[in-house]
Amino acid sequence: MAIIIDGNELSRKKREDIKEQAASFATRYSRPAGLAVVLVGEDPASAIYVRNKKKACENTGIRSFDYHLDVATGREELLSLVKQLNGDPEVDGILVQLPLPAHLDSQEILLAIDPGKDVDGFHPYNMGRLLTGEPTLVPCTPAGIMCMFREYQVELKGKDAVVVGRSNIVGKPMALLLMMEHATVTICHSRTRDLDRKVKAADIVVAAIGKPDLIRGSWIRDGAVVIDVGMNRTDAGLKGDVEFEEAKNHASLITPVPGGVGPMTITMLLDNTLRAAKSHVS
Ligand code: GUN
Repeated sequence: MAIIIDGNELSRKKREDIKEQAASFATRYSRPAGLAVVLVGEDPASAIYVRNKKKACENTGIRSFDYHLDVATGREELLSLVKQLNGDPEVDGILVQLPLPAHLDSQEILLAIDPGKDVDGFHPYNMGRLLTGEPTLVPCTPAGIMCMFREYQVELKGKDAVVVGRSNIVGKPMALLLMMEHATVTICHSRTRDLDRKVKAADIVVAAIGKPDLIRGSWIRDGAVVIDVGMNRTDAGLKGDVEFEEAKNHASLITPVPGGVGPMTITMLLDNTLRAAKSHVS
């Protein structure tokens, strides 16, 4: 039976540490670290994420600047806000919540963010740094997963890792971080053939494809480590990408949904904001 990774507890511990660092930062530089959160439109899931991010900032001593724009906001207006935030010395981090309404080109907006304030790590500069093995600001979800591996002393060197999902937000940066720790990485996605065979061979499985219970519990090799990034709203409630009840009989370590990866993502956003703040004063 697997040990269940407690993302809430790990998050609480990390946030205590970040809170102390945020307080010394504020004392030393006579201002708190600041995060600007930009939400365009009324997507209910995004509104919840943004609310949780702001709350986490307040509880940690990071100042949050809240920009909630109308769904009809135009490209120029949003670009001009990003430019204003780039130049604001009280703003250390800028987060534009995705997805943006369809009339806005998210790649163009992300490109406009100062890479030094890109606390999501989505700017091509930060992505490129990660690709070349010199990471700066790293995307929060994969960074949080690496933190879990460290905390639970998961050895990655020489291990076979399978990442299911190839998004810029999770799958791609996750694969790069695992490779940096000397894992042998296979990236699978919606067109992958024989997904079951690939998962069955994995020591580490990171599921980030957004399909409830896609990864059957019986596919999990005995002793494997299973990280479930899925957040799928179904009639039966919130579900991960992994069939948890069966998978936990095979895995040595597994994350639950909710209470696994989710809280760590926000914790790493706070961590990135503080990192960015420190780089702005040094
Ligand atoms: N939408 C879903 N996840 C994320 C995230 O980590 N950052 C932003 N900005 N938008 C998201």
